Amino acid sequence: MTIPVTIDGKVQGQVLGVSDLREIPPYLDTYPSLRIVYDINVRPLAMELKGALSVERGEDVPAFAISCSEEGKTLHTVQDICTWLLDTSAQRSTLLLAIGGGICTDMAGFAACIYKRGIPFAFLPTTLLAQVDAAIGGKTGVNFQDFKNMLGVISQPVYTFECPTSLLTLPYREFLGGAAELLKTFILDDGGGKVLYEETVSLLGEVHSLGLKKEERLGDALLPYLPALGKLIGAAASVKASVVSEDPYERGRRKVLNLGHTFAHGIEHEARVRGDAWSHGEAVSMGMVLCARLSSSLGLCTEELSDKIRKDLGGCGLPVECPYPLSSLRGAMSVDKKARGGKVPFILIGDIGDVRIVELEVEEALERLERYY
Ligand code: GLY
Repeated sequence: MTIPVTIDGKVQGQVLGVSDLREIPPYLDTYPSLRIVYDINVRPLAMELKGALSVERGEDVPAFAISCSEEGKTLHTVQDICTWLLDTSAQRSTLLLAIGGGICTDMAGFAACIYKRGIPFAFLPTTLLAQVDAAIGGKTGVNFQDFKNMLGVISQPVYTFECPTSLLTLPYREFLGGAAELLKTFILDDGGGKVLYEETVSLLGEVHSLGLKKEERLGDALLPYLPALGKLIGAAASVKASVVSEDPYERGRRKVLNLGHTFAHGIEHEARVRGDAWSHGEAVSMGMVLCARLSSSLGLCTEELSDKIRKDLGGCGLPVECPYPLSSLRGAMSVDKKARGGKVPFILIGDIGDVRIVELEVEEALERLERYY
């Protein structure tokens, strides 16, 4: 699988499918030196790839571990990465390879964008969420003053290596977070046949029926599903790359990737205030159900479709009901980065594979949803 991200007629990055980490080193041969930044949680995998790269190049490839959390997704961590790049004499031609989930790729990508005014970077995403969303499309950055991803730049990784076997060590709860983004992708673009969405619902439903505990690692239980999952990850990566190629700086079409995210940001903010621990993907799942209901209340889709989406997401093991009063989401939703003139662009659903951007006041959206509570 090779999927180009093409901007202004020029290929600026590629998403590459690999079945084994040892396939990666030759792609990086043309770079005179490499640095690796990795999430400490995936140390064994990062060390395996560091070893393979060092053998290929005949020299040690330096690697730097970071611990990744929303609280630690700060300029401070980016500064640590830049300090390490400087300490290890990274040059402008050095490629920085980030190995980890979306927080790791966002921060390392941002550091690469600002170090010496920009060095090339590549990603090996190790979570489902990063494989289908965060590590494709070039959004990099950090949280700032209680706002998510408030500082950052859009710049494309030269490679995003998609290796589904790297998901085996993922805890089930993190897998589910990525599952929400996978479903989101096919709700907004199903390749025209509604097959990808249904296949995803069915595969995730089967994984859910294994009865894994949320903190349990997927391990060998995921093995029988890897070929089908790999195909769906490739299809989702393809949708994402095509949306980004059309609108890299989110002036129009790229906004559709935020399906469910305005509500999700409100839910995540309220969760932080209350000390609850919903993951981003879980909040996106609840947000998509709210979007489906909002869509049917505006007559854009049928109630049957809205109910089906709720049932499908629930059947995959995702949370579907926002546990907070809707009014408590208002503040955080209104400061959405995409808000303009009091209105927020909501991504609403006409059908599976058919979404549209509708500007609404947050107040109106919440009022329409009150009747469900
Ligand atoms: N995660 C949404 C985007 O990349 O635009």
